[in-house]
Amino acid sequence: MLKNSSKSYGWISIVIHWLMAIAIFFMFGLGLYMVDLTYYDAWYKGSLDLHKSLGMAVLGFFIFRVFWRVITTQPTALAGPKWQQLLAHWMHQSLYVVMLLLMVSGYLISTADGRAIAVFDLLNIPALPWHVENQEDIAGEIHAILSWLLIALSVAHALAALKHHFINKDRTLKRMLKVDNVN
Ligand code: HEM
Ligand code: HEM
Repeated sequence: MLKNSSKSYGWISIVIHWLMAIAIFFMFGLGLYMVDLTYYDAWYKGSLDLHKSLGMAVLGFFIFRVFWRVITTQPTALAGPKWQQLLAHWMHQSLYVVMLLLMVSGYLISTADGRAIAVFDLLNIPALPWHVENQEDIAGEIHAILSWLLIALSVAHALAALKHHFINKDRTLKRMLKVDNVN
């Protein structure tokens, strides 16, 4: 039930998948909203602090997710052409790589001035002992581009899942919504 099986994702993978998906879409909206605020807006500091804290929490979930993925079985691909299975595989790998780079670039913007990131006032994530010139601007550009790339990939990925569900009528989406051990 908690672990994946060869037929379905288990609850741990399912819950992490959806929590991270919601958090990423929320973070994207929050990011676009907060960069338009000025220093005099009431939410200027609060929104940035929330974005950084939640972002570091998502990074924590990400690390656990990768670890969990390595130690549990992966459900076998459902029937379908080989190219489609390969495409899905590469899409998942790309989502992981872009998620990681996005969070690392966010960390590099936030720590460019050498200050630690306070995560919900609970813990401080220190800056690296070195930094590159214009780190804040370079990492900021990369972060903005990667955030759009991640959303574009996620939307394509979601559309593929919906196509499986409504057109092919297979269990691809169902087994990411609940533990489903049907043959
Ligand atoms: C979890 C996924 C994340 C998403 C989807 C996301 C999304 C975004 C977006 C859309 C922007 C606005 C970009 C622009 O138009 O200039 C932004 C800005 C920013 N993000 Fe993130 N972000 C994420 C994670 C993080 C993390 C982990 C941190 C740091 C701990 C972070 C720190 C920042 C900072 C400091 C800015 C402001 C940059 C500026 O002032 O130009 N983000 N983010
Ligand atoms: C930011 C949003 C999202 C990200 C980053 C994301 C990422 C991923 C990743 C990396 C996997 C591979 C399995 C794993 O390791 O957990 C996966 C599987 C899956 N995702 Fe998403 N996902 C997102 C949103 C969505 C949405 C909105 C849907 C549905 C409408 C969806 C449906 C699925 C399904 C059905 C699978 C299982 C695919 C299979 O068994 O081959 N995902 N997702």
